[in-house]
Amino acid sequence: MYLRAGLKLINNHFPWVSLKVPYSLSWHITNACNESCLYCDHRFRKQRELSTSEALSLVHDAALLGVKMFMLTGGEPLMRQDMEQLVFSIKKQGLLVAMASNGRLIPDNLPLVKKLTFVKLSLDGDESTHDQIRSPGSFRGVIRAIETLLGLGIKPRLSSVICNLNADKLEKVLEVANHYKLKVKFQPASDIHIKNPPPLVTLEKFKLAYDYLLSHSKKSSSLLVNSQASLQYYYALLSNNKLPMALHCHSTLFSNTITADGYLSLCTPLMEDEDQRIDCKESQGLKRALAMLHHPKSRRPQACRRCWCAHSLELNLLLTSFQNPLRCMRKLFWG
Ligand SMILES: C[S@@+](CC[C@H](N)C(=O)[O-])C[C@H]1O[C@@H](n2cnc3c(N)ncnc32)[C@H](O)[C@@H]1O
Ligand code: SF4
Ligand code: SF4
Repeated sequence: MYLRAGLKLINNHFPWVSLKVPYSLSWHITNACNESCLYCDHRFRKQRELSTSEALSLVHDAALLGVKMFMLTGGEPLMRQDMEQLVFSIKKQGLLVAMASNGRLIPDNLPLVKKLTFVKLSLDGDESTHDQIRSPGSFRGVIRAIETLLGLGIKPRLSSVICNLNADKLEKVLEVANHYKLKVKFQPASDIHIKNPPPLVTLEKFKLAYDYLLSHSKKSSSLLVNSQASLQYYYALLSNNKLPMALHCHSTLFSNTITADGYLSLCTPLMEDEDQRIDCKESQGLKRALAMLHHPKSRRPQACRRCWCAHSLELNLLLTSFQNPLRCMRKLFWG
C-alpha cells in the first residue's frame, strides 16, 4: 500500500519518472536551413511546419504533461521567425530549453540565446574541410558563436559528424575543443533518411577516425563524450559485424522526437518511418500520442541496428549494463 501511494506521489510530481512521459522532447522545429551540409537531408523536406499557435499549444501541452525540457533542433532552429516567442514561452512555463545550431545566427539572437540552458554547435573539421562539408563561411560562424556564447557565460558543446571528407581530419575539432575547454561528441554520418545516398562514410575511412578517437580516448577522455564502447559499437555497425553487446533501447523512455510537421516518434533515427510516428495534431494531441507511443505493447524491447545518435547510444549502452533493475522499475510502474 505504502509503495503504491509512494509511486502515485512520484508519478504526480515527476511524471517522467514513471516512463509514460519523456523527460525531454527533441523538436526538429523547422526544416529550413542557411547551410547545405553534404550528409544532411533536412533541407529537402517539404512538409508543412507547425504554425506559431500550433507550436505554442504543443509547448503548453508538454508542460502540463510533465515534460521537463525541449531540445530545439532542425533544420536550423534560428531560421524560424517566431523562435524568440517559442523559447520565451517554454521558459515561462518553467521548462528547460536547449538548442542545436550551426552557430551562424547566434550573435544576432542574444536575448533568446541567454534563455538557453545549453547549446550544441556543429564542428566538422578544419576551416576548409568544415566549409566544404557545410557551406562557405560556416567555420568562422561557429567560432564566432563559441566566443559569443562564452562571453555570455554559456559553455557550448560541440557535435561532429564523421564522413568521408573529414574522417582523417578530426584533430582540428579536438584542438578547438581543447582550446575553449568544450566537450565534444562524434557520430558517423547516417544515410538512413536519404534516398539513394552516395557513401557518406565508408568503413575504410571510418576506421581512420575510429583509430584516432580510440587512441585519444585511451590517452585522455575528459573532453571526448564518446565512450570506447560506443566507438566500438559504431565500427561493428558500419562493418555489419555482430554488435559487441546485445544493446537494449532505454533512451526512448527519457527522450522522444517531434518532427517539424508535428509527428511524435521514439527517436530521430525512426522519425521518418510511417509506422513509427504518430500525428500530435490528430486525435487528442500530445497526451494521446505519448500514451500510444509508450504503450507497453508498442514499445520496442530491443534496440534496432540504427542507433547512430551519439547521446542515445551512450545512454543505451550505459543502461543496458543496469538492465535488470530498470526492468523491475518498469514492472512496478506499469503493473
Ligand atoms: C540536423 S542538425 C540541426 C542543428 C543545426 N542545424 C546543426 O547543424 O547543428 C543536428 C545535428 O545532426 C547532425 N546530422 C545531420 N545530418 C546527419 C546525418 N546524416 N548523420 C549524422 N548526423 C547528422 C548535424 O551535423 C548536427 O550536429
Ligand atoms: S546546418 Fe544542420 S540542418 Fe542545416 S544542413 Fe547542416 S546539419 Fe542539416
Ligand atoms: S535503439 Fe533504435 S529505437 Fe532506440 S534510440 Fe536507438 S535508434 Fe532509436
